[in-house]
Amino acid sequence: MLSFVRRSGRLDARLQRAWDAYGERYLLDINDGEGSLRLRPGCTLDSAFVERHWGDDHPLTVEIGTGQGENIVAAAQSHPDRNYLALEVYDPGVAHTMLLAGKNDLTNLRIARINAPDLFASARAGAVAEVWTFFPDPWPKMKHHKRRIVQPKLADDVHRALVADGVWRIATDIEDYALHVHEVMDGRVGWRLVEDVTVSLPTGHVGKGNADDARQLPHADFPESGRFEGRVLTNFEKKGIAAGRVIHDFAYRAV
Ligand SMILES: C[S@@+](CC[C@H](N)C(=O)[O-])C[C@H]1O[C@@H](n2cnc3c(N)ncnc32)[C@H](O)[C@@H]1O
Repeated sequence: MLSFVRRSGRLDARLQRAWDAYGERYLLDINDGEGSLRLRPGCTLDSAFVERHWGDDHPLTVEIGTGQGENIVAAAQSHPDRNYLALEVYDPGVAHTMLLAGKNDLTNLRIARINAPDLFASARAGAVAEVWTFFPDPWPKMKHHKRRIVQPKLADDVHRALVADGVWRIATDIEDYALHVHEVMDGRVGWRLVEDVTVSLPTGHVGKGNADDARQLPHADFPESGRFEGRVLTNFEKKGIAAGRVIHDFAYRAV
């Protein structure tokens, strides 16, 4: 089940120029053919992949669903001694990330226009130091919850990809998605949540348009993590805060 539907990814003139100028430098050629968002068979995320695409063995952070790329570009700028990989399926986002990377002349960032779970399914043990999934698409309708990108299979693949003590950081402003993350991740063998705060959440799910009904549901306390200080405030987070929603942060360590 894919976590996205393909939207028209038409680029305006500015983004098309960025794609043309920086595509060769930043975009990884790992797709299963022209226009495909699937991983080319035989391609694996391992230490040889890092060596081939970055030319060194620095620790790799992979962000799933980079949107406009503000977070990964800021991090790559602040940590030239680390490698960064942006995964995104929406062409304007991919182009905007290349634009920011090119303007800043970044050498430690690469971008893959790929269905992120495919890449993690190919990952070898210990290839990745950190994984980020910030403000994933909420898929609010009950019948669409199965499209949410945080799923048991992805969790197992991310776990295998991570180095010992590596971390998967997740953030969401959607209360029902926070419960979903707890259900997928808490008690999952091999993970330990960094517990900094306690939040109260409904213990049942609600569908689109029924978020207010959640108040009537029984609640329970859940531990969560403090805000990741390495995250810049994107439009998605700003919108959530402006609407009065609580931001839920999770740092799950691979143990
Ligand atoms: C709500 S946006 C958040 C973007 C960004 N993380 C932020 O905080 O601003 C979620 C992004 O995930 C991307 N996405 C969804 N499913 C994906 C997948 N399977 N692989 C890669 N990217 C995906 C979407 O295209 C979208 O840009």
